[in-house]
Amino acid sequence: MEIEIFLAEEEKRKVPNFEELSFGKIFTPHMFIMKYERNKGWHSPQIKPLSNIELHPAAIVLHYSQSVFEGLKAYYGIDGKIRFFRIWDHIARLNRSAERLCIPQIDPDFVFRAIKTLVSIDKEWIPKKKGAALYIRPLIFATQPTLGLKVSCEYLFVIILSPVGAYYKEGFNPVKIYVTTEYIRACPGGTGEVKTGGNYAASLKAQELAHKKGYTQVLWLDAKERKYVEEVGSMNIFFYFENELITPALTGSILPGVTRDSVLKLVPKLGIPAKERKISIDEVIEGIKNNTLKECFGTGTAAVISPVGEICYKDKSYIINNGDTGELTRMLFDYITGIQYGEKEDIFNWTVTLED
Ligand code: COI
Repeated sequence: MEIEIFLAEEEKRKVPNFEELSFGKIFTPHMFIMKYERNKGWHSPQIKPLSNIELHPAAIVLHYSQSVFEGLKAYYGIDGKIRFFRIWDHIARLNRSAERLCIPQIDPDFVFRAIKTLVSIDKEWIPKKKGAALYIRPLIFATQPTLGLKVSCEYLFVIILSPVGAYYKEGFNPVKIYVTTEYIRACPGGTGEVKTGGNYAASLKAQELAHKKGYTQVLWLDAKERKYVEEVGSMNIFFYFENELITPALTGSILPGVTRDSVLKLVPKLGIPAKERKISIDEVIEGIKNNTLKECFGTGTAAVISPVGEICYKDKSYIINNGDTGELTRMLFDYITGIQYGEKEDIFNWTVTLED
């Protein structure tokens, strides 16, 4: 499939000053868009100036949330090369999410080409400073106008780009997280392990409550027993106990994060054993109390590696590592960002350069 290209006016293509970049507030001047109709398949791919999208008010996505998305990044390296981090894993997850939401698959090679072509056009918008990157947000949503609850016959696949800095206002400083026992994010057999908007919508109420209490994020427990730690919603979670790194096992309601997987592959190289297993909130709190829990951090594409300095459970606050960023957390942050910015050898072949 040929991608038709329509460029934005010169004025709109001027790159702004990226001094104070936050997350997801500014967008590059172009977007990718492609339609799906059941009798035609995916067709008419275009890159065009970023614009609003017209939707029928009965479009299925607006009522029944049939949609999926991804989040990946392109980095401007110290050698001037532009690198995508684990792009093929993100594309594979997009199709896995689509499968769960009954959305038609898209040829991975074509998604790769669409992302590369769009990023090449807007490559001047990739921030040239460590800690900042170009966030790539592919999304697919159901556009058929009908109020009947059914699988849509029509979709749009869109890719937008946003130059970003740190996800949390704390930057690389430790965040405070709040454990909710009242609400759940996902349940067995649900959609927790895929990237669909509904999971995030379901998390907002507890996040608002956590914010009001002065916490950055919510730590979710399992739906059945409200006992086992799952994830933070915007990131997966890791606990460093003495000489072992533990993260909750993927039981079906946890997002299989790409950064989570990168950490699991990396730590054995640093001589630290890592385990995926069920971990109860009581074990975490006990570890903080008896000082066997040395560090806690979250992982995510947006969040990268985010130290956690405080956990609130049942209205009691517990401080981890004196509220400071731990040594392992910093080491993993440096290692992963080192690979992303081309400072460290990419021993796992995780990066693909724009020129490849
Ligand atoms: C990401 O880390 O890419 C996500 O999609 C999480 C989102 C809350 C920003």
